[in-house]
Amino acid sequence: MRIYVTEDYQAMSRKVANLLAAQVMIKPDCVLGLATGSTPVGAYQRLVELYRAGDVDFSQVRSINLDEYVGLAPTHDQSYRYFMQSNLFDHVNIDPANTNVPQGLAEDPEAECRRYNQVIHDLGPIDLQLLGMGHNGHIGFNEPSDVFERETHVVDLAQSTIQANARFFASADEVPRQAMTMGVQTIMQARKVLVAVSGKDKAEIVKKAFTGPVTPQVPASILQMHPDVVLVGDKAALSLL
Ligand code: GLP
Repeated sequence: MRIYVTEDYQAMSRKVANLLAAQVMIKPDCVLGLATGSTPVGAYQRLVELYRAGDVDFSQVRSINLDEYVGLAPTHDQSYRYFMQSNLFDHVNIDPANTNVPQGLAEDPEAECRRYNQVIHDLGPIDLQLLGMGHNGHIGFNEPSDVFERETHVVDLAQSTIQANARFFASADEVPRQAMTMGVQTIMQARKVLVAVSGKDKAEIVKKAFTGPVTPQVPASILQMHPDVVLVGDKAALSLL
């Protein structure tokens, strides 16, 4: 595993954006696995700047997002489709037809997961998967569990995740209780995994995930088994490593 320690969130964001841009330069029609959450926002801003400067071209890129809340419309400002549009897709020349996020309003979420799996199988393997990490070690929305779920599935969100994400909603009651998420096996099949972490509040879980036992109770710990992981974090998040 390669680890980059940066001074602060801004520097972490620049590094993550540069690595994503490098992937697109090396393979213009690459498959990018993309993530949401507050961590990658700065990296997406920087990617938009690189695009505007003419340094990166997304015209052939295909993207697959990790997850989506069950029940949120793509126009809901907390849906992950909306997040991707407003933070990245609307500002670069990616073909909208080449972007994939699970459909939150699908009538049958289980069927939507099967459809999404097929999309991943048709496009994959993912060349570079970007990941953030929840405070309980979740990746995508793979919550602590007794087993590593393999493919895209419906998940009941952990109470701690609902609380953590309540800051984006009017109240915790409005946070959806379920989500659809890419499975751990799919994430592990990505050729390269890029984990971004920031802030002191992530230091404990970063330590657990990367130096503790590999267990589905800490979903990110499985990344210890991946042959090509790059961890980029500010010094606060990596302070306990
Ligand atoms: C969310 C997302 C994850 C994200 C995580 C951390 O619940 N489903 O993909 O990595 O929480 O979010 P943040 O970056 O805001 O700490």
